[in-house]
Amino acid sequence: MTSVDAPEFPMPRAAGCPFDPPPGLRELQEETPLAPVRLPDGSTAWVVTRYADQRAVLADSRVSSDVTKPGYPSGTPGRVVGAGNIGFILMDDPEHARLRKMVTAPFMIKRVEQMRPAIQRIVDERIDTLLAGPNPADLVESFALPVPSLVICELLGVPYTDHDFFQHSSKNLISRSASPEERGAAFQKLHDYLDDLLIEKTERPQDDLLSTLTERVRNGELTRADAAGIGVLLLIAGHETTANMIALGTMALLENPEQLALIRDTGDPKVIAGAVEELLRYLNITHNGRRRVALADIEVAGQTIRAGEGVIMANDIGNRDPSVFDHPDRLDVTRDARRHVAFGFGVHQCLGQPLARVELQVVYGTLYRRIPTLALAADRDSIPFKHDAAVYGVHELPVRW
Ligand code: HEM
Repeated sequence: MTSVDAPEFPMPRAAGCPFDPPPGLRELQEETPLAPVRLPDGSTAWVVTRYADQRAVLADSRVSSDVTKPGYPSGTPGRVVGAGNIGFILMDDPEHARLRKMVTAPFMIKRVEQMRPAIQRIVDERIDTLLAGPNPADLVESFALPVPSLVICELLGVPYTDHDFFQHSSKNLISRSASPEERGAAFQKLHDYLDDLLIEKTERPQDDLLSTLTERVRNGELTRADAAGIGVLLLIAGHETTANMIALGTMALLENPEQLALIRDTGDPKVIAGAVEELLRYLNITHNGRRRVALADIEVAGQTIRAGEGVIMANDIGNRDPSVFDHPDRLDVTRDARRHVAFGFGVHQCLGQPLARVELQVVYGTLYRRIPTLALAADRDSIPFKHDAAVYGVHELPVRW
């Protein structure tokens, strides 16, 4: 891999265009679909920018998600100690598949649909609270974070009263500006917390996902450390991602009022479901790319990635590939965006996607209808975007109504 002039990755977004991927990625997609980039730890990796190439690599069993393998493209200047045991997201098959299967059932479409009325109730209650509180308010703190946190707490059996602790630790764990030590400490705290909960549930099992994991530990199918790792993964992935989609999606819609009106004024759940897919595509909040290391030589875009080299599928620009989506930089909630790669692709494709979809459908389908006067309560340029986090979004979103 020639890396002398390789650009740095992640790349900066253009000033004033907070919803668009970095222009540097667009240039690569047009001219160099497989390109070397320089990572924060000084190493180099390949970045793949075209949609079809990204799906091909993500479906290829000759790439690994194992962060401990030499050549894995690190997102931080140093290794985050301990974070290798964050559930099965950083493992390869067959162990990945074995562990994933243990928690698949509650996330299947049928089971998640049964949760829709409870999710609707949570959303309505949080809107009631928002409307009864001070105006203006921060939508992140008062609505976007609580909704998915309440839902995943219920599903896992985590007490919501601990939300300050787990939201804060998750934020530190995925922050790019925190040191590897700080991130490692955040992971350890979450791991210990989940481990304590598992001990509690071993003694007093309840009707929740963590209790099913204690059963598997008892049967010898799962170690306690793996069970706690899975708990950390589900707790973080279950609230942080959807929360960012709610707040960032709302900001994007407030900036595109004609699109917001299409969502607000429809009574058709299919229109809302389509809008959710388009917002997932357009915003692609997991903006640091899907990361893998090659286990064998593989051909991509007419070139060879050698065994041991890191490869990053930049799915934000993949979702803006003009050969797949017409006028890709346009937010169009009426388009069919279902082929997007916002949930990844291949064996690690998002386990929680049915849950995320229902949560977002209920939120987008309710919030703007119940608060039709919702507006930004701050200058657009003063909104703090999460350029420094592995999951993109806004740190706060002041709104009034
Ligand atoms: C809008 C919200 C969400 C987005 C955009 C999102 C995105 C993603 C992406 C891109 C991946 C693939 C990672 C990779 O290829 O390396 C992933 C994996 C995963 N997601 Fe999500 N996610 C969301 C919500 C959720 C929710 C609500 C849960 C529920 C717990 C969840 C649980 C997971 C898990 C467990 C994995 C790992 C799957 C595996 O390795 O087999 N996600 N997610």
